[in-house]
Amino acid sequence: MSSDAPSPSSSSRAPRVAIVGATGAVGEEFLRVLHQRAFPMTSLKLLASPRSAGKTLPFGDQTLTVEALDADAFHDVDLALFSAGGSISREYAPLAVAAGAVVVDNSSAFRMTDGVPLVVPEVNPDAISDAGIGLRDGLDAGIIANPNCSTIIMLLAVNPLHRFAGVERIVVSTYQAASGAGAAAMRELEQQTREALAAPGGTGQVVSQDIFGQQYAFNLFSHNSPLQSGGYNQEEMKMVHETHKIWGQDAERGSGAAPDRIRTGITATCIRVPVMRAHAESINLTFRDECSEIKASALLKDAPGITVQDDRGANAFPTPVQASHQDDVFVGRVRRDLSQPEGRGLDLFVCGDQVRKGAALNAVQIAELLLEKRTADR
Ligand code: A2P
Repeated sequence: MSSDAPSPSSSSRAPRVAIVGATGAVGEEFLRVLHQRAFPMTSLKLLASPRSAGKTLPFGDQTLTVEALDADAFHDVDLALFSAGGSISREYAPLAVAAGAVVVDNSSAFRMTDGVPLVVPEVNPDAISDAGIGLRDGLDAGIIANPNCSTIIMLLAVNPLHRFAGVERIVVSTYQAASGAGAAAMRELEQQTREALAAPGGTGQVVSQDIFGQQYAFNLFSHNSPLQSGGYNQEEMKMVHETHKIWGQDAERGSGAAPDRIRTGITATCIRVPVMRAHAESINLTFRDECSEIKASALLKDAPGITVQDDRGANAFPTPVQASHQDDVFVGRVRRDLSQPEGRGLDLFVCGDQVRKGAALNAVQIAELLLEKRTADR
């Protein structure tokens, strides 16, 4: 496989893949995840802004050259993984689809668009085939949206409990890492940390404040996404609306699909913390049916994509540092909520790598579902 390998046209060949935003934090993780999972590919094209054209990136023991994204970039692409921000997705994802590619889009541009499946493979894998999208010689080209990282990480932990007991209400508070704001934010956190430690007189003050416009190192603040009327920010409302869509509880589908007939009440508070790349979330749940602490722990232990780390004796619970670079979402502090009737309320604390399961890994797992579906259809 090389970046410019010739590619025969056949529904059975491995897909020709492009990464849009290959030089970003998620883009580079796409490269690692595709390589680690030995994702079958006929060719791999790396696309970014003209600033990065000619730059090289490692892929296993190969070195691939980045090309500038343009409107013709997708004529030889079957599968395009987008992570270059919403405006690039809005402009180029339709062009990729018109050229016959399936797009897995990491931005929020199409998440709430009717007909665009919003997919967490462990939660709603069937949404892809329900939307009629598949990797079959461009016949079923379309866009599949990757949910917001905080939504993915929350749902990995909450979905198994929802399937068992029906979650009527979620109160979630997030502690979100720099990576969610991209590679430049990660660099700025590093830079500010250096500046704060070196600040004269131990004032801890920083100079570089380009990304968030305020001190991030040794600080925390309300998520930087725009505030909406009512006082919630966009990130918080993404968690609400995306969860409803993924669970089939969006308005178009009435009061919610099986097993719940619930429209889960969700309220979120999203906070940016000076952590490099894994998000943490404190989650409080109210159940329709009984779900004990013991049952919840057992369900979580059996659930895909989760590691339960809940050692009260050793006070050992999930941390962003341990969750970093891991595929699984870590779940701990599983405990009865004493303010609710026995069996009706639980608290959890979860940590998941934002760049990996929150973005690149989830998208590659979606691509793997497309390959599985193609094999099954043959
Ligand atoms: P570049 O590095 O050339 O600017 P992150 O989310 O980590 O900030 O990454 C954003 C990604 O989106 C980078 O790969 C970046 O490329 C890419 N990108 C930004 N602007 C454009 C553009 N106009 N065309 C193509 N890719 C872009």
